[in-house]
Amino acid sequence: MERTYLMVKPDGVQRGLIGEIVARLERKGLQLIGAKLMQVSTEQAKKHYAEHEGKVFYDKLLTFITSGPVFAMVWQGDEAVAAARQLIGKTNGLEAAPGTIRGDFAIHTNYNLIHGSDSHENAEREIGIFFQDSELVSYEKNI
Ligand code: CMP
Repeated sequence: MERTYLMVKPDGVQRGLIGEIVARLERKGLQLIGAKLMQVSTEQAKKHYAEHEGKVFYDKLLTFITSGPVFAMVWQGDEAVAAARQLIGKTNGLEAAPGTIRGDFAIHTNYNLIHGSDSHENAEREIGIFFQDSELVSYEKNI
């Protein structure tokens, strides 16, 4: 069993795509164990995007992710990181395959609707940036 951190970015919230995105993750068989609509602070954004510091798009990234509410989520399941990334699609909406979230709803690289952890280690690190342990629930998924 693995956990992953997913976040509907400000463009996804603005476009009313939270429900569509959550539905796709549920249908895949992943289990939601934490979720909240929140405003990302600059401190959280810097921690979250630490690996991109120094890149040309870094400043834009911080400005965008703190520009409005995001829908932060923790999902779990077998191979949750890979399963979620498969549903999300490639970073650039134009390159993402139809049928994926970005392929169906995004055109841009900056405004690509959703973040998904790219490894087990990053998932655990990112969950720690956005959630307290007390905000996550544990329950049996029988089907
Ligand atoms: P995400 O994978 O969620 O996290 C890093 C983000 O940087 C990525 O989504 C894109 O939204 C954004 N980004 C902007 N420009 C680029 C780029 N040239 N290459 C990769 N990511 C980029």
